[in-house]
Amino acid sequence: MLFDPFVARDVTLRNRIVVSPMCEYSSEDGFANDWHFVHLGCRAIGGAGLVFTEATAVLPEGRISPQDLGIYHDAHVERLATIVRFLHGHGAVAGMQLAHAGRKASTARPWEGGAPLSLDEGGWRPIFAPSAVPFTSNGIVPQEMTHGDIERAVTAFATAAARALGAGFRVLELHAAHGYLIHEFLSPLSNLRSDAYGGTFANRTRLLRQIVAAVRREWPERLPLFVRISCSDWVAGGWTIDDSVELAKQLRSSGVDLIDCSSGGAVPNASIPIAPGYQVPFAERIRRDSGIATAAVGLITEAHQADGIVRNGQADLIVLARALLRDPYWPLHAAMELGVEVPWPPQYERAKPKRGPTVAGPR
Ligand SMILES: Cc1cc2nc3c(=O)[nH]c(=O)nc-3n(C[C@H](O)[C@H](O)[C@H](O)COP(=O)(O)O)c2cc1C
Repeated sequence: MLFDPFVARDVTLRNRIVVSPMCEYSSEDGFANDWHFVHLGCRAIGGAGLVFTEATAVLPEGRISPQDLGIYHDAHVERLATIVRFLHGHGAVAGMQLAHAGRKASTARPWEGGAPLSLDEGGWRPIFAPSAVPFTSNGIVPQEMTHGDIERAVTAFATAAARALGAGFRVLELHAAHGYLIHEFLSPLSNLRSDAYGGTFANRTRLLRQIVAAVRREWPERLPLFVRISCSDWVAGGWTIDDSVELAKQLRSSGVDLIDCSSGGAVPNASIPIAPGYQVPFAERIRRDSGIATAAVGLITEAHQADGIVRNGQADLIVLARALLRDPYWPLHAAMELGVEVPWPPQYERAKPKRGPTVAGPR
């Protein structure tokens, strides 16, 4: 089942294994480079069905760190297109996650401490959010977005979608999770607005619905659109799984094909019961109650665990992050463990374990 193809619109994935979007903090002015080529390329060689870029900023001020990947210039497209061609040439489908970091923008990359960056340190101002409330008490105070700022963000997502199409990507995911801009509007913990974008569920979801509509106008009907959400803020008074089910129903009827079910990130003090597969029940519930396809993510590390989630109808796709950093060939190894025959790259064929003794010839 994990190795059954998955079809969404005109796109067929060779299996259900997805490389989760993972920030690499390795760009200069948003440009992809050799690191991205090798990092993403390896995981296509490793057998994943769908390979997502990291959160790719639609505006420069929407980067988490100065080193984030971006798609806010036309000039970003060319290098991305090279990577996409390689991924498609090795059996994977290339996907791009589009993002805006909102109030979590302008921070140092994790291995340099992750703290908010001053202008002297290469940070930028203003950073934008639904309300002028920082993520942490000593964080950068974001600027409350005007309707003009909101319109600019919506347009930036649509323009980025058009560029992603130009680069050849065949799946697009909107990052509406982890406390970044779109999630900041969804969650009552970070959205304190009293206008048409705050207060009621309909108002808090308005930005996402507008972005989906704008992106869908640029992203052709033949290609799938995913949305990653935080299914729960894990905080009383925050966004809930019931909200997620209702949102998923609405997104389904607006041209979204799959909900990628993550959680958390809205506020720093949430208490999250982290354990193997802890977010799988969200994917299962949304799939069952809203009728949309879902992806499960979060501490999925074992072949039988991943296969069981698909087999039991809890999710349609299995999204892996850290397990695929540890082992880019996780899909090939998982196939062996599950007794499924999948082709290895011919260049690596002689390393493929065979039944009986392996004979390595000369040359
Ligand atoms: C290095 C790293 C970078 C990440 N960057 C992103 C990102 O760009 N977008 C995103 O939605 N999630 C990001 N995440 C979260 C992962 O996509 C994933 O949801 C999380 O790590 C849980 O999955 P795992 O247990 O398989 O690692 C990142 C995680 C890691 C480890």
